[in-house]
Amino acid sequence: MSDMNLDKTAQSILVENDQGGYTIPTKGLYPYQWNWDSVFVALGFATFDQDRAWREIEMLFEGQWRDGMVPHILFRKDDPSYFPGPKVWGTDGGPIPSSGHSQPPVAATVVRDLVEGDRSGKALERARALLPKLMAWHRWYLAYRDPQDLGVLAVMHPWESGRDNLPDWDEALRAVEIRDVEPYVRKDTSHVDPSMRPHKDDYDRYLSIVAAGRKAGWDPEKVAATCPFFVADPGVTFIFLRANRDLLKVAEALGADAEAKEIRGWIQKMEKGATTLWNEDLKAHVARDLRSGKLTDGISSASFLALYAGLTDEPVLSSLQGHFDRIASKVRYLMPSYDPDHRSYEPLRYWRGPVWAMINYMIARGFADAGDASRAERMRADTEALIETGGFAEYFSPESGTGAGGGAFSWTAAIWLTWASPSRADQAA
Ligand code: GLC
Repeated sequence: MSDMNLDKTAQSILVENDQGGYTIPTKGLYPYQWNWDSVFVALGFATFDQDRAWREIEMLFEGQWRDGMVPHILFRKDDPSYFPGPKVWGTDGGPIPSSGHSQPPVAATVVRDLVEGDRSGKALERARALLPKLMAWHRWYLAYRDPQDLGVLAVMHPWESGRDNLPDWDEALRAVEIRDVEPYVRKDTSHVDPSMRPHKDDYDRYLSIVAAGRKAGWDPEKVAATCPFFVADPGVTFIFLRANRDLLKVAEALGADAEAKEIRGWIQKMEKGATTLWNEDLKAHVARDLRSGKLTDGISSASFLALYAGLTDEPVLSSLQGHFDRIASKVRYLMPSYDPDHRSYEPLRYWRGPVWAMINYMIARGFADAGDASRAERMRADTEALIETGGFAEYFSPESGTGAGGGAFSWTAAIWLTWASPSRADQAA
């Protein structure tokens, strides 16, 4: 298919996955609104319908909880083809049935992008309405996912990281006792090949953590104190640090001085805190289990997001450039979600090796911001080639380029439209 046709296909994927103001990730496998999926989707819509792009984010915030949390899934209507649904989560923190934890906070970054790319003259008004909601969400993250004020954010569930079965979670997950799990039937493995999905044993533990959240009544303070899984995640931490820098720009553009001052304090704290995730042996940032204090021993695609977070000082930049080149000599397509030199790497199992388009996009932005245009372009070219070879798949093999998981996937289409498509790159040049 020519790239022009791919542009059209990508648009039609978004339009077809549109449920009337919000977009599902893909039909069958993921029939609800997912948090960071929606935010990336907004970038795709913005290339042909800016009003619709804002709508996507506004509808996500309709599900915001009273305590400020923006949930990872909004169950706007019941769909028995998905498990675990609203009954298993048992939440009542917000106006729309939802899961009980959050997902990576990319929204402020995209709100800034929408403001800066605006052609309607109405963007600032829409950003003004979102500012208090974004502030409340960011405050929630700091209060309940960094209760010790370390300057790094933890996830209370692997799903909160958005990188579900990442090897970084293995050890902390093994320590989770399997309990309070009713007999259940998974639905994911009836939609896609089980060899590309998490194992059953992982799933039992995922559900045990959900049960622990339910037991705590999803009270975020109790969750932080008692949850059997609480791991500082470089992915969420870096995305949040970046989001705060972007939120600061939005606040400044709106003349919101008190907010801007508050955000500057957050940025300072996070810049310091991020150093505690640095693994000196690996020369990269990794995860830290906050229950055991242990750092993990592998490089994930999120290690590269240090640059996206603005942490470009030495030795971070040159170490990441070195890892980039090493990994590029091992696999054909960048960036595998886990280091191909690590024992846990699996090229087709979800977050244990496959390439994800939206992570590539963020990594490339980081390299571009750090002044490394050639590695940024390599990321774009690889993402273009993957989509040309594997279609608008959920994720791709870094070795063969095969598309895997769900098809006609919204965020892959959105990333194509906003960045990977050569027509977009021409426009930006
Ligand atoms: C999977 C991914 C997560 C994503 C969701 C919907 O759970 O790991 O990041 O948001 O699917 O696409």
